[in-house]
Amino acid sequence: ATPRLIDPFARPITYLRVSVTDRCDFRCVYCMAENMTFLPKKELLTLEELDRMCSTFIGLGVEKLRITGGEPLVRRGIMTFFDGMTRHLDSGALKELTVTTNGSQLSRFAKVLYAAGVRRINVSLDTLDAAKFQRVTRWGRLEQVLGGIAAARNAGLRVKINTVALKGFNEDELFTLTDWCAREDMDLTFIEVMPMGDLGNEDRVGQYWSLDDLRADLSARFTLTDLPESTGGPARYVRLEETGQKIGFITPLTHNFCESCNRVRMTCTGELFMCLGQEDNASLRDILRASPDDDTPLIQAIEAAILRKPKGHDFDYSRQRADGQVSRHMSHTGG
Ligand code: GTP
Ligand code: 5AD
Ligand code: SF4
Repeated sequence: ATPRLIDPFARPITYLRVSVTDRCDFRCVYCMAENMTFLPKKELLTLEELDRMCSTFIGLGVEKLRITGGEPLVRRGIMTFFDGMTRHLDSGALKELTVTTNGSQLSRFAKVLYAAGVRRINVSLDTLDAAKFQRVTRWGRLEQVLGGIAAARNAGLRVKINTVALKGFNEDELFTLTDWCAREDMDLTFIEVMPMGDLGNEDRVGQYWSLDDLRADLSARFTLTDLPESTGGPARYVRLEETGQKIGFITPLTHNFCESCNRVRMTCTGELFMCLGQEDNASLRDILRASPDDDTPLIQAIEAAILRKPKGHDFDYSRQRADGQVSRHMSHTGG
């Protein structure tokens, strides 16, 4: 389909990321506070509303849908939503339906996801050490996630691992993680820790591990070849010549990739954020609810919002402390 959503900088918006819940069964230290107040259920889009919202975006040329959270797979009944999206894959309007998950529920859901048409998933995993895993997630069990990843692969899903690079936490596992992914034939992407949510007591600035440094560490053991742009995501990829594996870097802080941005994100309450790094959003939920039988007002609101998409984000650790710019938690907009 020809994209109908074109932003003011001539970027076609063909990728929608949807957070289906603000809840999570883990509490990763860089993502959530230990005691989170979650939204009451009536604030959330129902499964039917989620379907209508996503279907409207697909009608406007969105070809890639990524379901996130919180942890998307803890949302009750979420498989009904995935099953509903299958019709858009079948019609060819939707090219990819995918999910970013912490892996905790994959043993249960891997087969159903595959049956709904999901082919690739991203699993967040920052360490292969059970004690460290428990520390970073506050109470997660590594075994459960490794079991989930195995179940996903048995079900035929391709798995990409997302690892947040944290100085003093997983620096020493750079090669362990790389080797594990090579052995298991999984792609691996490192993410720079972003200044989201309340920094609280977490030393997010001290934990910041530049991916330029990480890359230099990798090249001590591997020959890195830059790969040309790929998945339409923000990651830039290299191939490690010795193993042939692909490693991605998501570097919002050291190299921003906004000029090729193709995405917007929706929260579980139906707010459309035009950029991960800015607070501007359009609340679509009430517009959708006010017009149950006619999508026109919703379409108009979406088109108007896209015209407000900013040129780029302005994450900046040096300013972050002074004015605490992006105070949303990552789980609110779903990464
Ligand atoms: P692909 O669809 O395969 O490209 O995946 P992806 O890497 O975009 O998706 P994933 O959910 O795995 O994203 C990993 C992380 O990248 C997100 O959680 C964010 O932390 C970050 N990220 C994704 N998109 C953006 C973006 O547009 N801007 C910024 N600053 N960060 C992003
Ligand atoms: N900075 C970078 N990545 C983060 N994630 C969550 N919070 C942050 C943050 N502050 C990542 C998770 C997951 C993805 C959805 O977002 O680890 O991979
Ligand atoms: Fe949950 Fe993912 Fe946030 Fe960790 S990073 S608390 S797994 S949503």
